[in-house]
Amino acid sequence: MLSKISAKSLARRSFSSATKAPKRVVVTGGAGQISYSLLFRIASGQFLGADQPVILNVLDLDFMKDPLSGVQMELHDCAFDTLAEVNATTNQTEAFKDADYIFLVGAKPRGPGMERADLLMDNGKIFVDTGKAINDNASRDAKTIVVGNPANTNALICAHHAKDIPKENFTAMTRLDHNRALTQLALQTDSAVTDIENMVIWGNHSPTMYPDIRGTTVAGKAALDLVDRTWYEDSYIPKVQQRGAEIIQARKLSSAASAGNAALDHMRDWVFGSSEVLSMAVPSEGNPYGVPEGLVFSFPCKVTPGKYEIIPGYDNSDAFSQEKIKATTDELLQERDMVSGLLN
Ligand code: NAD
Ligand code: LMR
Repeated sequence: MLSKISAKSLARRSFSSATKAPKRVVVTGGAGQISYSLLFRIASGQFLGADQPVILNVLDLDFMKDPLSGVQMELHDCAFDTLAEVNATTNQTEAFKDADYIFLVGAKPRGPGMERADLLMDNGKIFVDTGKAINDNASRDAKTIVVGNPANTNALICAHHAKDIPKENFTAMTRLDHNRALTQLALQTDSAVTDIENMVIWGNHSPTMYPDIRGTTVAGKAALDLVDRTWYEDSYIPKVQQRGAEIIQARKLSSAASAGNAALDHMRDWVFGSSEVLSMAVPSEGNPYGVPEGLVFSFPCKVTPGKYEIIPGYDNSDAFSQEKIKATTDELLQERDMVSGLLN
């Protein structure tokens, strides 16, 4: 039997702001690899801050009940000040009830030799029921990130089935690609990631994504003046595009801690805002770049507390960018066609 701990059992801890009402955070795929780092960071205050109590609702499938209860035990055993309650459940209605923030991680990962799109038929259908359960149970303002692959199209399916919640509340994760792109550029230019500004990932979380450093600066200097164009096109872009596969090759498992970290970055910045240009995969409705509507596409975003906006004004008229953006758009259109049966 999956148990709960009551807020009362932690009441003896001295919350610095006992008056703040707890926020409800849902993580699906709670017994999986990514959650094994993500959950502990959320519970310890690294998502919503050291003064914000959280109620964690952790969902997994029925056959994962035992490992899930083990994760719950470990969360209890950390005695985090910010963890008001942790509910481990295999019931979607319970999981999404009154949710404020939702991390949709639960889905199959790919293995060596597969593309993420190969997961679409198996994973896509998860997001039909998930969208409906979010619609029927979560807060009307709930903010959702889809991590489970193929993340962009899964987010599209999920948003479609959560009919009473604004579409823009459903996003997919390209922050891992963004973070990878920052570090690879920092390594090449012998600089710190904090020196780098205006990095953009366009499109799909897949090998067609377009890591764009045309406007990027490193310590105030144009990145393209610091690196060789051949390195950019032939090494850097494929490196970022294929980093997930490189990790699977090395670990025999897909990225987990870095994925959890990126999910936390994405959601934390969405909640609190950021002065950086960020890459977020968001509904393409009303985008200023002519990307067809009805996709979830990664754009450069400016984020103020609780709100993101696609940043206009990047000039994508050069042939190189046009080709890259077309390739990733076409792939997303194909993915959408493949799941048209799930978008009724
Ligand atoms: P994992 O197999 O270790 O864990 C997935 C968990 O999800 C399992 O415990 C499984 O039982 C559970 N699950 C499956 N279907 C579910 C459902 N309908 N409801 C609730 N739980 C469900 O996998 P992982 O390494 O944690 O990866 C999870 C997903 O994240 C994969 O699809 C992976 O490809 C993806 N991923 C995405 C990114 C990204 O950048 N977007 C990065 C890394 C991994
Ligand atoms: C990643 O980019 O690491 C994830 O999407 C996992 C994968 O399948 O590559």
